[in-house]
Amino acid sequence: EMPLLEQCYNLLDFEAVARRVMKKTAWAYYSSAADDEITMRENHAAFHRIWFRPRILVDVANVDFSTTMLGTKVAMPFYVTATALGKLGHPEGEVVLTRAAAKHNVIQMIPTLASCSFDEIVDAATDHQVQWLQLYVNKDRAITERIVRHAERRGCKGLFITVDAPQLGRREKDMRSKFTDPGSSVQATAGHATDGSQGAARAISSFIDPGLSWADIPWFRSITAMPIVLKGVQRVEDVLKAVDAGVQGVVLSNHGGRQLDFARSAVEVLAETMPVLRARGLQDKIEVYVDGGVRRATDILKALCLGARGVGIGRPFLYAMSAYGLAGVDRAMQLLRDEMEMNMRLIGATTVADLGPDLLDVRSLGSH
Ligand code: FNR
Repeated sequence: EMPLLEQCYNLLDFEAVARRVMKKTAWAYYSSAADDEITMRENHAAFHRIWFRPRILVDVANVDFSTTMLGTKVAMPFYVTATALGKLGHPEGEVVLTRAAAKHNVIQMIPTLASCSFDEIVDAATDHQVQWLQLYVNKDRAITERIVRHAERRGCKGLFITVDAPQLGRREKDMRSKFTDPGSSVQATAGHATDGSQGAARAISSFIDPGLSWADIPWFRSITAMPIVLKGVQRVEDVLKAVDAGVQGVVLSNHGGRQLDFARSAVEVLAETMPVLRARGLQDKIEVYVDGGVRRATDILKALCLGARGVGIGRPFLYAMSAYGLAGVDRAMQLLRDEMEMNMRLIGATTVADLGPDLLDVRSLGSH
C-alpha cells in the first residue's frame, strides 16, 4: 500500500516511499555511496552538530529568501544538482526535474550522464528558466569542447566541472544489484557502450579523464564565457587555488558520499573555508556552494549562515520523482519553501542578507 503524496510531510518521507516502490537496481544506484557509506551518514550528522542562536523580537511578518546565484535571481537558495540516470527512477527522466524547477523558479544543473539528451532537457525548459551544465571531462578534449560550446549556445548559464571523480568511487550496493536495465539511454551522452557487470556507476564512467589538473583550467576559460565552477572541492587550500585560477565558484561537496569515503562533510569544509576567505578579503571573489545531506530548510539556513551562496540537493528530488513523478518533486520543493518561511521567522531573519555566523553555535562542529 503506497502512501498518498499528501502523507509526505518532509523530504525524508520521499526516501522511505522510494525505497519501497523503486526497482531494486534503481534504488541501489540512487541510494548507494562509497565503501562503508560513512561519509554519506556524516553529511547528515554534521548538520546535527550545528545549533541556532535565534534573534527575538524582529519583525518577521514578511520574509524573503530569494537570492542570486552566478548572477541569476532565484526564488529559493537551493538548486537541483546533477544526478545521472534519471530514467532509472522515472520513464521521463530529467525533464521531470526541469518542469518542477521551472514552477518553483530554481536552477537545474544538467548532468553529463543524463538519461534524456541534453537538448531534450533544454527544450523542456521555459523561456526564462536557467540551467547549468555539469561536466565530466572526457579524455578526448574535442568531445568535451563540443559539449561545452553546445551548452553555451543553448543558453546554459554556468559550467560546473566535477573535480572529485578522477575515477568513480566503489559503491558496493550498486555493484551487487548489477546494471541490467536496458531502458536507460546512457550511451547517447557518454558515447560508450556499457558493461553492466560492475554496477551502473562503473559502467558509464570509463571515459572520464583521470589526468585532469589545474593546468587545464585556462583551457576551459578559453573555450567558454560561461561562469566556471569547480564541483567537489574538499579543502580550503583548493578553494584558494580556485580563486587564483580565476573561476567564479566552487561547490564544496563529496558527491553525496559516493566518492572518497571518510571525506568530510561540506559544512565542515565550509566552516574551515569562510574565515580564511574573509581574513584575506576574498569572500566576494568567489561564490561558495555546498551540497550533500541537505534535507531540511534548517540545513539550508545553516549553510547560508556559514557563508554559502546556495546549496545543491540531489537524492530527495530523485526519490520524489521516482515515487510520485512531477507532483512529487513539486511537493518536495513546496515543502522546502514552507519550511524556509517558517524557520527564517523562527531564527529572526527576514532576508538572506540577515543570515550570518552570529546566528549559529558551531562549537560542536570542531574547531576552525
Ligand atoms: C550524483 N552526483 C553526481 N555529481 C556529478 O557531478 N555528476 C553526476 O553524474 C552525478 N550523479 C549522481 C547520481 C546520483 C544517483 C546521486 C545521488 C548523486 C552527486 C550530486 O551532484 C551531489 O553532489 C549529491 O547528490 C549531493 O548529495 P545529496 O543531496 O544526494 O545528499
